Amino acid sequence: MTTTAKDDLAAYLAANAPPDIGRVLTALAEASITVADRIRLGALAGAMQAEVGPSHDGMPQTALDVFADQAFVARLKGAGVRGVVSEERDEPVALDADGTFLVALDPLDGSSSIDANVTIGSVFSVLDAPAGPLETSHFLQRGTAQRAAGLFVYGPQVTFVFTFGRGVAVATLDPGAGTYRITTRRLEISAEPNEFAINVSNFRHWPEPVRAYVEDCLEGEEGPRGCNFNMRWIGSMVAEVYRVLARGGVYLYPEDSREGYENGRLRLLYEANPVAFLVEQAGGAAIDGWSRILDIAPKSIHARTPLIFGSQEKVERIMLYYTEGSASQRAPLFGRRGLLRR
Ligand code: F6P
Repeated sequence: MTTTAKDDLAAYLAANAPPDIGRVLTALAEASITVADRIRLGALAGAMQAEVGPSHDGMPQTALDVFADQAFVARLKGAGVRGVVSEERDEPVALDADGTFLVALDPLDGSSSIDANVTIGSVFSVLDAPAGPLETSHFLQRGTAQRAAGLFVYGPQVTFVFTFGRGVAVATLDPGAGTYRITTRRLEISAEPNEFAINVSNFRHWPEPVRAYVEDCLEGEEGPRGCNFNMRWIGSMVAEVYRVLARGGVYLYPEDSREGYENGRLRLLYEANPVAFLVEQAGGAAIDGWSRILDIAPKSIHARTPLIFGSQEKVERIMLYYTEGSASQRAPLFGRRGLLRR
């Protein structure tokens, strides 16, 4: 990442973003500061991870999930947004009747890790609102239709990574001033390092292409890849996205054989799509194994999808494991039953 002049976010958006999109991004950024302030206080302001009810899919909903959801929805009122889909709500919420945008939002990603004080975040996608009163079906647009997307990373620094289709910029929260300042104007994913992120405890549940890819990485210099790899897993997607954007590598949350994981874990509208838009705008790629994430037609607002994203060459290689088999199979001398295998 190249760091440049630290313009105020508002000045940057005024100079670079379509004005109506700038208004939505400004509202989201302001809400994120409210959320960041609450996270920074931690237990001083009460138990953030207290379970306050089941969310729509049975995962426990924490006090911080609810706080973040309410902060974003409240701030989006009056920002030109017709309606919001949130991970924390079964149904869309209607906002400005004359709004021209829709927002799909995971207000607090990684909430299962709140008690561990690790980096967590928020993710959003902005779509055009079709004409007429708000309907759930209005949100069922392919990721290619996104007008903007971004994520807020609540870590050692609070960062705002966003795109409106002209590359990816990064802003860092200046806590003293209570405002974001642009710290990277054009982010591009590096082809290095040889780093992959996946929850290996699910190895036995994975589909064959993912097992084969990870096995080949684990073989390191002695295996078909001929080089060593490093593994990372934070268990907080936004933190992993930021790491991959900042220094390269690849992230996988594939479909697996556990009940309820037939389409992976992550949500298409407000996790995979915004991440895929960001990653592609930074020169990387995002797929579900077989296809580009942004081309998937959503079947429901909370639909899940397998998600694999990162440096383009790495993602394309994984796609080959899906479409043509593993490197071992493609290079039989190194294969499991090959001549050179110990
Ligand atoms: O629900 C999303 C999420 O919390 C992500 O932030 C994270 O990457 C993933 O789930 C962790 O899943 P698991 O606990 O299966 O590793």
